[in-house]
Amino acid sequence: MTKITAAITAVGAYVPDFIMTNKMLEELVDTNDEWITSRTGIKERRILKKEGEGTSYLAIKAAEDLLRKGNIDPKEIDLVLVGTATPDTLVASTAAYVASQIGATNAFAFDLLAACSSFLFGMSTASGFIASGKYKKVLLIGADKMSSIVDYTDRTTCIIFGDGAGAVLFEPNTEGLGLQDEYLRSDGLGRNFLSMNAGGSVMPATEETVKNRQHYIFQEGKTVFKFAVSNMADAAAKIMERNQLTDTDVSWLVPHQANKRIIDATANRMGLDNDKVMMNIQKYGNTTSATLPLLLHDYEQQLKKGDNLVFAAFGGGFTWGSIYLKWAYNSK
Ligand code: UT7
Repeated sequence: MTKITAAITAVGAYVPDFIMTNKMLEELVDTNDEWITSRTGIKERRILKKEGEGTSYLAIKAAEDLLRKGNIDPKEIDLVLVGTATPDTLVASTAAYVASQIGATNAFAFDLLAACSSFLFGMSTASGFIASGKYKKVLLIGADKMSSIVDYTDRTTCIIFGDGAGAVLFEPNTEGLGLQDEYLRSDGLGRNFLSMNAGGSVMPATEETVKNRQHYIFQEGKTVFKFAVSNMADAAAKIMERNQLTDTDVSWLVPHQANKRIIDATANRMGLDNDKVMMNIQKYGNTTSATLPLLLHDYEQQLKKGDNLVFAAFGGGFTWGSIYLKWAYNSK
């Protein structure tokens, strides 16, 4: 019997129009363009300013871009997954709303919450549903409105994050293309260093939690940085080693965009030159679940059928890992 693998067959993306530059942040907190650029690589980020709109707005736009570009009938989609750290609301599934709004009326849908690794873990989930032979079209979206949980008086976090969304379609492949291998990990002790402390079941919202600004993202940057550098690089190196990939075999590193220094360290460990490293952190900052599909969207024209892509991510939880995927098409 021919083996079924899960290949990416279409890509879409959306970022809001409003650009928040480093200069604008200088007006809000005690920081400067030089510090932000040299410590993170970020020059600007996008912010969703539309009143009453949340993460689903970004996700729907990205999905619609994919459907239009790929000329895909939404009724053929079997499953819609939304990877996010900022769902529209708690309890009601954001993915269900997105599926309905894009006309995926024959799909089931659910959210996948794994912070910055949501999209990476979503790739594994989507791939599993396809490889089982049960489903033919799985739409995976990574979307986050980080500005909804960022404290714009905290200079250690507000400079990093931005809003955005990206989407990919997974379909069965019998040529051996698509997802090849994955190395995924988590460590729950990490929640002491990167989290949003209030608003969940441990600490429901009270006047006190609002007053104490506990509904904003909190990060102990230095600690997270240390774990991110070692774990992201280790995971990517492991994936290369066990698939006997040398630096020349790897066409592209697709790294989570949290900090340019973390990306450089990962590429360095893999022995890759800069021209094989996808990077757009300078214009979007850290969009959490959206970084990986936004990279695929920005680099799609340069990708060729058979290219070896190594994805790597690290995020809250902690969660991290790496995925090896063979690209399945040449762009028109
Ligand atoms: O995507 C999810 C996972 N997240 C990450 O991977 C993020 C990991 N962490 C980081 O990227 C970095 O730790 C940050 C970018 C958040 C911070 O960079 P850093 O080089 O680790 O800075 P630091 O926290 O060690 O702070 C160095 C100095 C401190 O001043 P002192 O104590 O040396 O006087 C900070 O108070 O820089 C100061 N500082 C700032 N200065 C200007 C912190 N934030 C700022 C700022 N502007 N925005």
